[in-house]
Amino acid sequence: MRVTWYSHSCFLVESGPFGLLFDPYFTGNPSAPIQARDVRCTHVFCSHAHVDHLGDAVDLSRANDAPVVTGYELAEHLAAQGVKTVDLMTGGAANLPFGRVKATPALHSCALELEAGRNLPLGVAVGFLVTIDGKRLYHAGDTGLFSDMRLIGRGGLDLAMLPVGDWYTMGIEDAVLALEYLCPAVTLPMHYGTNEKIQTDPHAFAREAAAAGHRVVVLNPGEAFEL
Ligand code: NI
Ligand code: MN
Repeated sequence: MRVTWYSHSCFLVESGPFGLLFDPYFTGNPSAPIQARDVRCTHVFCSHAHVDHLGDAVDLSRANDAPVVTGYELAEHLAAQGVKTVDLMTGGAANLPFGRVKATPALHSCALELEAGRNLPLGVAVGFLVTIDGKRLYHAGDTGLFSDMRLIGRGGLDLAMLPVGDWYTMGIEDAVLALEYLCPAVTLPMHYGTNEKIQTDPHAFAREAAAAGHRVVVLNPGEAFEL
């Protein structure tokens, strides 16, 4: 299984015939190493409606005939535009061709910015617990720390993708605590470096995590991790 980080919270998980693309933020992302049209996927996961996560989801869904897996209200909003969706709600799971996905809680908001200062609320932000090819992967979306992460880690995690950028999500200190709750075999940090408010050093996170006994791998945009 190959996990490629395209910067921010965007990952492509490739396993056999499946390509699971998370939070596809290419257009407008100063750190994106490729463009959306260069990506092939079978499923798009969208943690919430903020532009740095919804990103190119609609175009990618159409170009790849890939459903968008997301929270119920955002799914309805996309379905009204003719987009194929899987409309999960927090705590619910679905069996899909690649395996299984459960929507996890995320301490964040979920609204689509229509114009400056005018937002359309669209349900709640979620994260994703994915089981594929015998492995359990957690993409936290945008979230603050919450102690129920213990429940997400209970069945064991082969990989966690966690925000560490601070300001809009967990920062380093809370992300290290999250590792205590989640106990993943390996963690890939995300949601940092893409704008001036989230200039967190991922290597500082990796050092503090290592001191607490956890393995963190820092990828460069476009780099892949073999799981
Ligand atoms: Ni957000
Ligand atoms: Mn974000």
